[in-house]
Amino acid sequence: MQNRTSVRDIWTKYENDETLTMLTAYDAPIASQVDAGGVDMILVGDSAADNHHGHDDTLPLTMDEALSNTSAVDRAVDDAMVIGDMPFLSYGASMEESVNNAGRFMKEAGADAVKLETAPHGDTTIEIIERLTELGVPTMGHIGFTPQRMHQIGGPYIQGRGHTSSAAVDELVETAERLEDAGVFTIVLETVTEEVGKRVTAAVDVPTIGIGAGRYVDGQVLVITDMLGLGGEAFKLSKQYADIDSEIRHAVEAYVDEVKTGQFPDEENVYDPVEEDD
Ligand code: KIV
Repeated sequence: MQNRTSVRDIWTKYENDETLTMLTAYDAPIASQVDAGGVDMILVGDSAADNHHGHDDTLPLTMDEALSNTSAVDRAVDDAMVIGDMPFLSYGASMEESVNNAGRFMKEAGADAVKLETAPHGDTTIEIIERLTELGVPTMGHIGFTPQRMHQIGGPYIQGRGHTSSAAVDELVETAERLEDAGVFTIVLETVTEEVGKRVTAAVDVPTIGIGAGRYVDGQVLVITDMLGLGGEAFKLSKQYADIDSEIRHAVEAYVDEVKTGQFPDEENVYDPVEEDD
């Protein structure tokens, strides 16, 4: 029986004013290091599409890919809560399909919870979240910039900046409140001004987890490849804590050089070595 971080543990930390931490992971080796590093939650994000499967955005990720990534993470994680991110259009077409797909993350892939993106006033998603929480599926909301709507909204924008109306910000706050009523256990808040992050956080009684949402939220999340410098991008909202791209390139260059110059394999790497003139 696993004893991973539960919704109740997240809530206890929130009530004790402990800032929550979340990172994404898409495979077992990285998930196991992220877990050992002590994060509270690991999101098997649909950002796997661009950061793991090589697509340009999150839209192409399939249920099969998402479930396979989530299972790999599940097998590697002992302590953190594992959250499966529901891919574009894996929810919303019908209540039945949405519930079945959410259930697959928990029953087949070992997720502890799921996450769904919600558009402003996203009635359909809010209804699905209500049903999922009623059925015992811990559900995380996601508002602000929602990458699955990329083609509709024309790329990332910062909610709360001059060009977004105060009505749009009011709508965001109202959506957060409706998600709270629907039963989400946390809300991801993506790419908003610090003031909007603060306002949403004050408006709801569930932990807000920010990515590009400033300092006045209840927790932070980053995309693992961005923060590791592993084929990721240097976004203003992120911070690079390592340069794994360089580490990999140096290791590969050293390997190529050693093979070509006969330094690898060495005697210690072979079974029953023979002398050259044997
Ligand atoms: O898929 C993802 O990585 C996400 C985070 C940006 C929160 O949804």
